[in-house]
Amino acid sequence: MVLGNGKLIKDKHGNMELEDYNMKLLGKDRLREVIDLQQHVYDNLPNKEVLYMDSYEDMLSDMESGAKIIGVLNSKNRIIAYRYIAFPGVNKRNLGYDISLDEDQLNKVVHLETTVVDPKYRGNSLQSLTLEAAQGLSKKEGYNHFMCTVSPYNFFSLYNIMKNGLKIKALKKKYGTDEEEGLWRFILHSDLNKKSLNPIDLVISKWANLDMQKELIDQGYIGYEIIKDTKQLNYVKFDDAAI
Ligand SMILES: CC(C)(COP(=O)(O)OP(=O)(O)OC[C@H]1O[C@@H](n2cnc3c(N)ncnc32)[C@H](O)[C@@H]1OP(=O)(O)O)[C@@H](O)C(=O)NCCC(=O)NCCS
Repeated sequence: MVLGNGKLIKDKHGNMELEDYNMKLLGKDRLREVIDLQQHVYDNLPNKEVLYMDSYEDMLSDMESGAKIIGVLNSKNRIIAYRYIAFPGVNKRNLGYDISLDEDQLNKVVHLETTVVDPKYRGNSLQSLTLEAAQGLSKKEGYNHFMCTVSPYNFFSLYNIMKNGLKIKALKKKYGTDEEEGLWRFILHSDLNKKSLNPIDLVISKWANLDMQKELIDQGYIGYEIIKDTKQLNYVKFDDAAI
C-alpha cells in the first residue's frame, strides 16, 4: 500500500541532490534491511542512549501480531527511513499503564515505536511525515490513543513528536529489568477523541532540567509544548487533571 510519495533532498548540508521517494508499508521480507538501517543509524549516534535497539526476532514476532512498519524508499528502492508502530492491547508493555489510562482504553492504544532516518536524508521531515501516515492508518482502524517514549536527551525527536500533538505525561526509567535500571524516557500521549481542556497554570522549564519536570508531572502538570529556539518546555496544569 503506497502511503505517499514526492521529492526529497539527499545530503542537505553537502552535495544536495533532489531525489524521488515513496512511502509504503513494508513486509517481513524487508525486515533484515530495516534492522541494518537501525544499526547504521545507531553506529552514527553521538549519544547511544537515545535509541533503544529492537531485535529482528522481537520485531518479527510483533509484526506477526499486527505491528506495522512504514518505510520510506529512495529512487533505488533502498529503505532510507522507517517508523515502526505496534498495537500492544492489554500486554504489560502497553504505555497506557505508565499514565494510568483507563483499562477499557488499552485496546485503543497505538505505540509509536522506533523511527530512524538515514543521516544522509535528515532534514526532510521524514519523522513527521511517517508520523502523520501512522496516525492516518491507525485512526482508520479505530485507534485513538497515540503513545511513545522519547529520551530527554533526544531534542530533535522530542520536538518533532510534540509538534505533532503528543504531550508529556510521565518521566521514568524504561527498558530495564527494574525501576532503578533502564534509560530515562519521557512518556508522551495524545488522545484524538479528547476535547480541549481548560488551562489553569503554566510553568516554564529548561529542556534539560529533569528534576523540575519530574516534580511538575507529579503535581499534575503536562508537558505541553517545546520552544525550538530557547529549548524551553511549557508545562501546563488543567482544571481537569484527568488524562
Ligand atoms: C530523530 C530523527 C528521526 C529526525 O530526523 P528527520 O525527520 O530527518 O528530522 P527533521 O527533518 O525534523 O530535521 C529538522 C532539522 O534538524 C536536523 N536534525 C535532525 N536530526 C538530527 C540529528 N540527529 N542530529 C543533528 N541534526 C539533526 C535536520 O538536519 C534539520 O535541520 P535543517 O533544517 O537545518 O536541515 C533522526 O534524527 C534520527 O534518525 N535520529 C536517530 C534515531 C532516533 O533518535 N530516533 C527517534 C527515537 S526512536
